[in-house]
Amino acid sequence: MNDDSTAMSAQEIRGRTVFREKGKCLECHFSPDFTGDEFRSIGLFDGVKHRDSGRYLITHDLNDLGKFKVPGLRNVAITAPYMHDGSMHTLREIIDYYDNPQASLPSGKNRDRLLSKPLGLSEQEKQDLESFLRTLTDDRFMTKTTSSNKHQPR
Ligand code: HEC
Repeated sequence: MNDDSTAMSAQEIRGRTVFREKGKCLECHFSPDFTGDEFRSIGLFDGVKHRDSGRYLITHDLNDLGKFKVPGLRNVAITAPYMHDGSMHTLREIIDYYDNPQASLPSGKNRDRLLSKPLGLSEQEKQDLESFLRTLTDDRFMTKTTSSNKHQPR
């Protein structure tokens, strides 16, 4: 995110552009850990299949219906399942949802205005965006157990 052009491949850099611009992801997933710490609704409450009304349960304000804290995205490639109810299982499923939430869940309530129109991402843009999300994985995180085992007393 510091625009170091040597840190990522061409595809990953294209994906970062989708993340910032056409995909509007950065509007909600901002700051170094990719959560603005706000409560927002991507429309995953419909009262039928998705029954948790989120922030509304605390505030009883109808404006908060279906709002959840925006999750950070560091290590997101290895932290499935996704969303507050674990209802999504792959990054591609999430990208397809954002591309056209209305098509996936027409009865989702109080969906944010940023998601009111389909994004219209091409197949290439979807793949680029997924490869950018995969760059947020910290490999040290994956190998931690191994290295700490090494230092265990015999
Ligand atoms: C309107 C604000 C908003 C926008 C725009 C947005 N997100 Fe999200 N995102 C959220 C919220 C809120 C959640 C959690 C929803 C839930 O738990 O039901 C979420 C969840 C996610 C998750 C699941 C994380 C996890 O650990 O469960 C991923 C991945 C994600 N968003 C990626 C993206 C990408 C990629 C884009 C752009 C295409 C995007 N988001 C656009 C608000 C937003």
